[in-house]
Amino acid sequence: MAKKILITAALPYANGSIHLGHLAGAYLPADCYARFCRLTGSKTLFICGSDEYGTAIVHGAELLKRSPKEHVDIFHEMNKELFKKLNIEFDHYSRTTSKYHKPFVQEFFLQLLKNGFIETKESLQLYSESEDRFLADRFVIGTCPKCGFLEARGDECTKCGASFEATDLKNPKSKITGSPLTLKKTTHWFLKCDLFKEKLSNWLKGLDWKPNVKNFIEPYIQDLRPRAITRDMSWGVEVPLENSDGKVLYVWFDAPIGYISATKEFFAERGMPDEWKEYWFDKETKYVQFIGKDNIVFHAVIFPAMIMGQDYPYKLVDELPANEFLNLEGKKFSKSSGWYIDLADFMTRYPVDVIRYTLAANAPENQDSEFTFKDFQMRVNTELVGKFGNFIHRTLTFVWDRMDRTVPKCHALSDLDNEFLANIEAIAIEAKEAYSKFQLRKASSCIMTLSALANVYFDHKKPWILLRNKEALNELETTIACCLKAIKVLGLIAEPIMPGTCEKIFAMINCSQTNWDDCMKEEIEAGKQIKEPHTLFGKIEDSQIAEEVAKLEPAVHTKSEIGFEDFEKVDIRVGQILTAESVPKSSKLLKLEVDFGFEKRTIISGIAKHYQPEALQGKKVMAIVNFKPAKIMGIESRGMILSASDGTILELPLLASAPLGSEIG
Ligand code: MF3
Ligand code: ZN
Repeated sequence: MAKKILITAALPYANGSIHLGHLAGAYLPADCYARFCRLTGSKTLFICGSDEYGTAIVHGAELLKRSPKEHVDIFHEMNKELFKKLNIEFDHYSRTTSKYHKPFVQEFFLQLLKNGFIETKESLQLYSESEDRFLADRFVIGTCPKCGFLEARGDECTKCGASFEATDLKNPKSKITGSPLTLKKTTHWFLKCDLFKEKLSNWLKGLDWKPNVKNFIEPYIQDLRPRAITRDMSWGVEVPLENSDGKVLYVWFDAPIGYISATKEFFAERGMPDEWKEYWFDKETKYVQFIGKDNIVFHAVIFPAMIMGQDYPYKLVDELPANEFLNLEGKKFSKSSGWYIDLADFMTRYPVDVIRYTLAANAPENQDSEFTFKDFQMRVNTELVGKFGNFIHRTLTFVWDRMDRTVPKCHALSDLDNEFLANIEAIAIEAKEAYSKFQLRKASSCIMTLSALANVYFDHKKPWILLRNKEALNELETTIACCLKAIKVLGLIAEPIMPGTCEKIFAMINCSQTNWDDCMKEEIEAGKQIKEPHTLFGKIEDSQIAEEVAKLEPAVHTKSEIGFEDFEKVDIRVGQILTAESVPKSSKLLKLEVDFGFEKRTIISGIAKHYQPEALQGKKVMAIVNFKPAKIMGIESRGMILSASDGTILELPLLASAPLGSEIG
């Protein structure tokens, strides 16, 4: 292992609280790796912080009627607190509004400029006279240039799906104030990424990264073009040049530099202002960045290019274990639609280590993975309680109750003992390798394999029987000594994933947690007293899981109660569609001629998006026939066709043989 290891995890936006998906994708893998590196004796530095600039933050703050600064202060503290509760042990959690950050970013920019990697270009952008500012895409609405939809967004139309530049919108308006916008000339600075093509390509060739990462960026590098790195806003790192009023650096330009400025802050605050260079300027440092897959381009291409354009020898990333996404019960996490788990709330009900373990065991390492409550319950009840916790508890209570609380001596080993000890050793090696390759799924399964083997060994040796036979004393003692060894190794290999639990395990066996190799070598001293054993985990009941699932789905509220007399007022009949045609100037409506047997009627129905007119001919449908006639698009409609819909999908309930005019009731 490298001696000096620098670990960073993507700086989360201070624009909301982190959720299970973020945790599984970046922060938990990073924390497990950092803990593993510390355990193996590497000099380790684990850096993160809040990403606090950018239009999303300005927008979020405006929606909540607070200043960007107030906004980021709230979420910075919230996330910092959450990370602490989750036992994510950063050496330093900074923020990009820190005083160390701005000058550092500005220097980065100036060096790129000096070295010829930045150019300026003039363009027309949307400007609000009343707000006295240029507006970024997400602040703009207007008429779609393709379909005429009145509320198209700055970058795409949610109605017809067209995508375009905000300057293509007709009648562009400010989303916040509704005021009209004009086009105004503005100058921006561009990073000439194309100049780094060859260097990036060559650098990448020498790296042994996951195929999902490499395959993604290779074509991207071939197609590199200059990228705008400034914005017209007031919230951000100002462009450090004359005549650049109102210009700040793009958030993706400043944020990754935060990894360096945070390191500088960490050491400066400890009275070692130059120590950050020990990590960032030393070729011997191994630099590992943990990110989610949506961040790959910036970490594998743009930020490395920015570094290549500097005069100082900053470290380029050595390992980029970018994870895929974690979904929740089959769908993407989405706070706005209620499909998410509030982490702070969740942690009030479940211990942090069972959450960490479940996420590690399901880590989205090579493909998207899922968090489901059933799986969570299984991981806890079957694996953590049933295997891991059970083995530790049965062994320790045996020592406590039957062996005078004392660690026994290990005598001559039988074949079975030898085999068990060899298995322990082999699994520990496998776990070590898994951690060093960022494979948390594999590390989790090592923990369970060892737990299962240890239970089998215990069952097989039956210490409770050996106890009755004085002559078997040596065998009994050896058995328990081997079991205690297994507990110690379990505590070691589970430490990166479940640090709190492992601390308890080591306390119970009265050992101090040392480093990996020593822990494997040193025996637990015979004659030593253990501490009183406590159970490590509790089971999760079916009722708890049902409650969690119920919380996810927004409750369906049925309409208020009615009596039969209300229902009786509605006259629903079977009718057959004779003809169907679209209504001019309407994309939603169809004009239907319907035969009810006693009468033929014209009915206008809003089903055009779901049915082709030809397909409806001859179909028998249900319709309300005592509906007041209504004029729709100039056509009189007499009745209403019944349909089933969830808001997205719509289907007509069809009848087969009921005679025309039959009453439905
Ligand atoms: N804030 C970004 C996100 O949450 C990540 C920024 S990573 C950094 O997607 F490198 F730019 F800091
Ligand atoms: Zn459109």
